[in-house]
Amino acid sequence: ASLPPVIAIDGPSASGKGTLAGIVAQTLGWHQLDSGMLYRLSALAVMRKGILPTHEAEIAEVARNLDVRFVGQQVLLDNDDVSDALRQEEVGALASQIATYPLLRQALFERQRAFRKAPGLVADGRDMGTVIFPDAKLKVFLIADVDERAQRRYKQLIEKGISANLSALLEDLKARDERDMHRSHAPLVPAQDAKIIDSSTLSIEESVAKVLAYWAEVNA
Ligand code: CDP
Ligand code: CDP
Repeated sequence: ASLPPVIAIDGPSASGKGTLAGIVAQTLGWHQLDSGMLYRLSALAVMRKGILPTHEAEIAEVARNLDVRFVGQQVLLDNDDVSDALRQEEVGALASQIATYPLLRQALFERQRAFRKAPGLVADGRDMGTVIFPDAKLKVFLIADVDERAQRRYKQLIEKGISANLSALLEDLKARDERDMHRSHAPLVPAQDAKIIDSSTLSIEESVAKVLAYWAEVNA
């Protein structure tokens, strides 16, 4: 039997991957994997256990044994609702730091692949099309200008009632891009067969329409 189809959506922080993946998954009635969340969950667990950010082997062990449950919109880590905690900037920053560790990436490999279930999966992250699902039927690499991405993140935080500083966000995005693109393991690069979508001047609906059009092409 062939494996269920995958649509992979990779790209830099705040390019709109999660939003796009959510709408495409809902439209097709497919499952969704937000792989960044697994890196954030690992980072949060590491913080809570007081493990040093440099202890790669211990961090990988924590990731391998993550006790996570998804209940509706809630994410439970060791039975504690961490949905809000996961969005904190320190958690994202630590996630991007420990995401450079091959042992951590290896620890999360099978956990991510387990999301591939019928009728299909829309997965977003940095290495969905290159490493985790190299046989994805459609690979999208979503980009947007860094200033536009900083604006989007800023608006997103303000709308949630979280205070934010635009220039600090911009600096953080640049640092994160740098680290994600230049690490030696699973760097952020488009797969050779990826469709590149620049969403800088696109609305969410326009990005969704492009992905669905590519998907229709794949099936034509
Ligand atoms: O998952 P990723 O970090 O790539 O981005 P996101 O959290 O899905 O999107 C960041 C913000 O950009 C969200 O508030 C979206 O509503 C907004 N946005 C978008 O996703 N696409 C556009 N074309 C315009 C805005
Ligand atoms: O806040 P942002 O949208 O950048 O991050 P995220 O998608 O929640 O992921 C947090 C961090 O995990 C990223 O900065 C990446 O370094 C890392 N990550 C990764 O290495 N590979 C993935 N497939 C997803 C996330």
